[in-house]
Amino acid sequence: MNFQLTEEHLSVQQAARDFAVNDLLPGVIDRDNEQKFPSEQVKKMGELGFMGMMTDPKYNGGGMDTISYVLAMEEISKIDASASVCMSVNNSLVCWGLERFGTEEQKEKYLKPLAAGEKIGAFCLSEPEAGSDATSQRTTAEDQGDHYLLNGTKNWITNGKSASVYIVIAQTHPEKRHKGINALIVERGMPGFVIGKKEDKMGIRGSDTHSLMFQDVKVPKANRIGEDGFGFTFAMTTLNGGRIGIAAQALGIAAGAYEFALKYAKERKAFGKHLSEHQAIQFKLADMATKIDAARLLVWQAAYLKDQKKDFVKAAAMAKLFASQIAQEVTTEAVQIHGGYGYVKEFHVERLMRDAKITQIYEGTTEIQKMVISRELLR
Ligand code: CAA
Repeated sequence: MNFQLTEEHLSVQQAARDFAVNDLLPGVIDRDNEQKFPSEQVKKMGELGFMGMMTDPKYNGGGMDTISYVLAMEEISKIDASASVCMSVNNSLVCWGLERFGTEEQKEKYLKPLAAGEKIGAFCLSEPEAGSDATSQRTTAEDQGDHYLLNGTKNWITNGKSASVYIVIAQTHPEKRHKGINALIVERGMPGFVIGKKEDKMGIRGSDTHSLMFQDVKVPKANRIGEDGFGFTFAMTTLNGGRIGIAAQALGIAAGAYEFALKYAKERKAFGKHLSEHQAIQFKLADMATKIDAARLLVWQAAYLKDQKKDFVKAAAMAKLFASQIAQEVTTEAVQIHGGYGYVKEFHVERLMRDAKITQIYEGTTEIQKMVISRELLR
C-alpha cells in the first residue's frame, strides 16, 4: 500500500494552495458578508484548469485523476468553501456527468466551454417537495416529438444565477416512477426559464443558491442525456461521484479551521504561556488532527477506487458522512480555541464553522449517506 503522492499530485496541491492564499483569502470575509459570488476568482480557477480537472483534454479538461481533484478541493476549501462548491458542482456533477453519458454533440457544445471554465454549470435535482426523496420529481418534461416541454420549480440550486448550462432532472412518464425521469440540458436564456429568488444562507454565503422556474420551456430532444427514462440513474450515478468532491470540501473546511487554530494557539498567550503549551489545548489539537487524517484517508480511498474504476459508491458515501461530521466537530473546536476572537469574523473560523454545516446537507444529507452505505452493506 502506497500513500505517497506523485510529483504531479504535489504540484497540483501546491498550485491550489497558492491560488487559495493569493486569490481567495483577500476579500473572503467581505464576500461572505455581502453574499458576493467570487466571479473573478472562479474565472481564474477556469484559467488555472480547476473547473474541469478530470475531463479529457480533448474536451478542454485537465485529464487529471480524482486524487488530484480532491487535493485541489481540500486546499481551496480551507480558505473559501463558496468558491469550492462552485468548482465541485462544475467538475463532479456537470462535467463528469456530461463526459460519461453525453453525446458527442453535447460534449462539443456544452462540455468544452464548461471544462475550460468559460461557462459554469448547475445540477438541478432538488425541488420544494423532493430534496432527499429524489424519485418524487414534480418537474415535468412532456414529450412533444422533437422537443420536451419543461414545467416546474427547482430549489436550492448551486450556481443558480452564475451558471449558463443547467442539467435539469424532470419526470416524463409519471406511471414509470423513477424509470420515467429524464435529464435535460437547459441553457440560460431559453424562453420560459426564470431565475428565482436567491437564498440568504447560514454558510457558503458567497455561492449563489437560487430557485429556478420553468414555464413551458422548449428543450430540444438532442439535449436529453442518455436514453428515455435514464435521468434518475444519471442523477444517482453522478451524485455518487459528486460526494467525493463534497467529502473533500468538508475535509478542507476542517483542515483550514485546524490550521488557523494551530497558528493562533502558538501565538496567543494566556496565564503566562502560549495556548499551545496548555495541555487542554494540546489535547484538542491532537483530536482535531487525528479526525482530519482519518477523513483524508477515507476521501483518498474513495478517489483511488474511482480512479481504479472499482465500485466506489460505499466509499464515497462513507467519506462524505465522516468528513462532514468531523468538519462540524473540528470547526467548533477551532472556534473554542480562539475564545472570543473565534466568535467574530476576522479570524475566519466562525465562517468555516457556518460553512461546515452544509456539507451534512447537500448532495445527500447525513441520513441519505447512511441509507446508501447500508444498502451497499446489505446488498
Ligand atoms: N447509485 C446508483 N443507483 C442508485 C443509487 C446509487 N447510489 N441509489 C439508488 N439507485 C437506483 C436503484 O438501484 C434503483 O434503480 P433500479 O430500480 O433500476 O434498481 C433506483 O435508483 C431507485 O432506488 P430506490 O428505490 O432505492 O430509491 P429511493 O427512493 O429509496 O431513494 C436514495 C434512493 C438513495 C435515497 C436517493 O433518492 C438519493 O440519493 N437521494 C438524495 C438525493 C440528493 O443527494 N440530493 C442532493 C441534491 S443535488 C445537490 O445537492 C447539488 C448541489 O447543489 C451541491
